[in-house]
Amino acid sequence: MTLPCAELHLHLEGTLEPETIFALAERNRVTLPYADVADLARRYDFTDLQSFLDLYYANMATLRTAEDFADMTTAYLARAAAGGVRHAEVFLDPQAHLDRGIALETVLEGVSTALASSEREHGVSTGLLIAFLRDLDAEYALRTLDRILALGTPILGIGLDSAEVGHPPSKFAAVYDRARAEGLHCVAHAGEEGPPSYIWEALDVLRVERVDHGVRCLEDDRLVDRLVAERIPLTVCPLSNVRLRVVPDLAAHPLREMLRRGLHVTVNSDDPAYFGGYLDDNVGATARALDLTPADLRELAENSIEASFLDRTRKNDLL
Ligand code: ADE
Ligand code: ZN
Repeated sequence: MTLPCAELHLHLEGTLEPETIFALAERNRVTLPYADVADLARRYDFTDLQSFLDLYYANMATLRTAEDFADMTTAYLARAAAGGVRHAEVFLDPQAHLDRGIALETVLEGVSTALASSEREHGVSTGLLIAFLRDLDAEYALRTLDRILALGTPILGIGLDSAEVGHPPSKFAAVYDRARAEGLHCVAHAGEEGPPSYIWEALDVLRVERVDHGVRCLEDDRLVDRLVAERIPLTVCPLSNVRLRVVPDLAAHPLREMLRRGLHVTVNSDDPAYFGGYLDDNVGATARALDLTPADLRELAENSIEASFLDRTRKNDLL
């Protein structure tokens, strides 16, 4: 997209390209269970969210030092800037690294150092969203949040990701209450594979300000009416939805219908290294598949900036 825009749904660990995974493995002497880059890339043929998550978590084994986390973050910011992104609110999965024995300080130091220099180096302002793994227990999420707050790392807000079905948002009510009391913004993945009731819970129990994915809201007219009335942004990820088989192909993606129904939709890349493209690739492919008009593209770009957690002055600068 050549229009200035914001990326609001991006997992930093999902930006590890196959070549980068091999380079990091060599740097850190990690043995990979793949013959070569082509062998790894051939495994990016997912049947559902879980089949992707299995590979996504496995490849994190190559991230060991603060420098690794900083390099991953910098590579994403440079690529995003080249695609027209002027502001990025990015997810990080600290628990996935803690569970592998990597210190929280190492992870946060690397990521936050790269984010802090981004506006100067890439012209991209940034914010960090800490995502909690919903298939783990809520007490662990709360402990992790408390540890991050104690470290004083600048964070913009929290999110909820990983395996959705069977892990409803309400499980994390106490975590969101705590985050809100700390003045953090609240978002959550809901309605990607999970039912519309998970979107209702994210709104009513977690009191989220944005819904990540949310495409399954279309199964519930009352929910669509509410999302429109309250102007709740949905961070939609079209290429992700195709690769994880949420929709059969891009031509069948509901993005245009969502726009026409007045939903506050934004386009994002989710895990670009795994799903076939960055934000500009998502916009371009979706525009072609759905015949989006120039006015649609302008609306999507403006929505992304309006849906960000930037202050009014910076939003106006970008619009
Ligand atoms: N973690 C990384 N990408 C994700 C997605 N699309 N859904 C849930 N958890 C994720
Ligand atoms: Zn996601």
